[in-house]
Amino acid sequence: MAPLRNIVILTGAGISAESGIDTFRSAGGLWEQHKVEDVATPEGFARDPDLVLRFYDMRRAAIQTKTPNPAHEALAKLDGAWGGELLIVTQNVDDLHERAGATRVLHMHGEHLNAWCAACDARPRWTEPLIHRPPCPACGEPALRPDVVWFGEVPYEMDRIHAALREADLFVSIGTSGAVYPAAGFVRNARSLGAQTLELNLEASQGSRWFDETRLGPASEVVPAWVDELLGG
Ligand code: APR
Repeated sequence: MAPLRNIVILTGAGISAESGIDTFRSAGGLWEQHKVEDVATPEGFARDPDLVLRFYDMRRAAIQTKTPNPAHEALAKLDGAWGGELLIVTQNVDDLHERAGATRVLHMHGEHLNAWCAACDARPRWTEPLIHRPPCPACGEPALRPDVVWFGEVPYEMDRIHAALREADLFVSIGTSGAVYPAAGFVRNARSLGAQTLELNLEASQGSRWFDETRLGPASEVVPAWVDELLGG
């Protein structure tokens, strides 16, 4: 087997669950509390922008009170120590990977702590509410929206993700249900290109059958154990 050099890691809401951030599809999860079509589609935003801005204002404020957990810390340790290619592709819009110290992170669904100006396309760093329609710092227009990829919108940096999958010797999926594409299709892409595939999740996901190996358990336990194994700790 070729030496392991290039790794792509996909993370989902499950990696931040133990930091106190709701996942989407678990019992009592976000999509039980809110209708997807109301808060996570461009149509919902057009229909009731206040409802949508309030929803993301609440989440933007909440994530700033949370801290990374041992799973985020283990991936940051791996990022710092790994000499080969490594890319953490996260579906999450929180900043816990970066706050744990990881740098090779790509947010394919956007970030809570950015706003996006619909007038000039600027993406200013943003920690405050948007409900009172503050002016865009770049163009002055009151046209800021959450910088989150909604259903029906195209995820970010897909070319860079596919380029990394083409080079990957190992594809690892952590804390995701495999319910949402294109992320849910990455395992089959990687597999068809010859990569080993590993899933770390609390329970079996919709894509478990595509993985060479699945390890079940809380991310705060299975991720540090896997990283220590990989680094020969
Ligand atoms: N440790 C590991 N895995 C966990 C933990 C935990 N502590 N808690 C939950 N999980 C797992 C669940 O078993 C589930 O498989 O995390 C997964 C979370 O799944 P979802 O809630 O569907 O979240 P995710 O897969 O990230 O959703 C994908 O859907 O709603 C959209 O854009 C949103 O990025 C999101 C995308």
